[in-house]
Amino acid sequence: MHDEDEDRDVRPATAEERADVRGTHASNRLAWDEAAERYEGWFPEAVALIRSGGSNLFPEELARIGDLHGRCRRAIHLQCAGGRDTLSLWNAGADEVVGIDFSPRMLALARRLAAAVGATDVASWIESDVLDVPHALDGTADLLYTGRGSLMWLADLDAWAAVLKRLLSPTGRLVVFEGHPAEWLFDVDDDGHWIATEYDYFGGPEASRGWAPEYIDQLSIPDSEQHWKFARAWTLGEVVTAIARSGLRIDEVAEHPVDWWGGHGDVAPGERGRIPLSFSIVARR
Ligand SMILES: C[S@@+](CC[C@H](N)C(=O)[O-])C[C@H]1O[C@@H](n2cnc3c(N)ncnc32)[C@H](O)[C@@H]1O
Repeated sequence: MHDEDEDRDVRPATAEERADVRGTHASNRLAWDEAAERYEGWFPEAVALIRSGGSNLFPEELARIGDLHGRCRRAIHLQCAGGRDTLSLWNAGADEVVGIDFSPRMLALARRLAAAVGATDVASWIESDVLDVPHALDGTADLLYTGRGSLMWLADLDAWAAVLKRLLSPTGRLVVFEGHPAEWLFDVDDDGHWIATEYDYFGGPEASRGWAPEYIDQLSIPDSEQHWKFARAWTLGEVVTAIARSGLRIDEVAEHPVDWWGGHGDVAPGERGRIPLSFSIVARR
């Protein structure tokens, strides 16, 4: 799915892999535990940001999340990684934040971040596959937040949407902010003008080893020794439909030119804003 695919080990997932939700998630868990190394490098930056009361979230996200002071007892962040975005929800006013991720190394980092910013009492971290979030949290999320590179790692969107439905409190809101699947249809030429790629919008999951240089880049483990990981750019229709079918009421679906992972930095200034690179969804019970 990345421009640099020629340099990485990338192939379509096999039919067996596509059918094996648990197996692909297990492999992704090992791959993400390896990639946590990169997030560890961002630790000092994350401490400074959260300590200063700042936010790692884009204005488009904050506009939908809103001011949480006095109106959010608990914010749950699915696929929270190292906790920087989760603690940004605390800075936005949530009384308590809960981060869920299946990578122990990511959660160790999140715990370290919470300790460094004095949030140990208000932040909890749960090691779990997003499809298996403990039922003790059912009905407790006044804000349920997810996104920024999360959905692509999931192999069953209907199961995911069922988890969203059960976690939301009766008056809770879901805010999703994600990479737009259309971003893979475009690249830029040497002058920074958008051109079409060969990407197959409906191609489904890919298996890969190695990471895009704009994001995780090289790890201390060589690409060929990393665990295989399985990702897919779910179409906007698939995401919206999964949420709608879960029984949640969708209030808004919006598309944004926000380059959420910095993968399109070489686009000429005059060309920016023409292509949807991210989307958001707001829903409630
Ligand atoms: C791109 S990161 C999310 C980043 C986050 N938005 C941030 O910038 O901090 C994806 C995260 O999802 C987690 N993850 C992937 N699949 C998961 C699953 N099935 N259950 C729980 N966590 C998962 C990974 O461990 C990783 O921390």
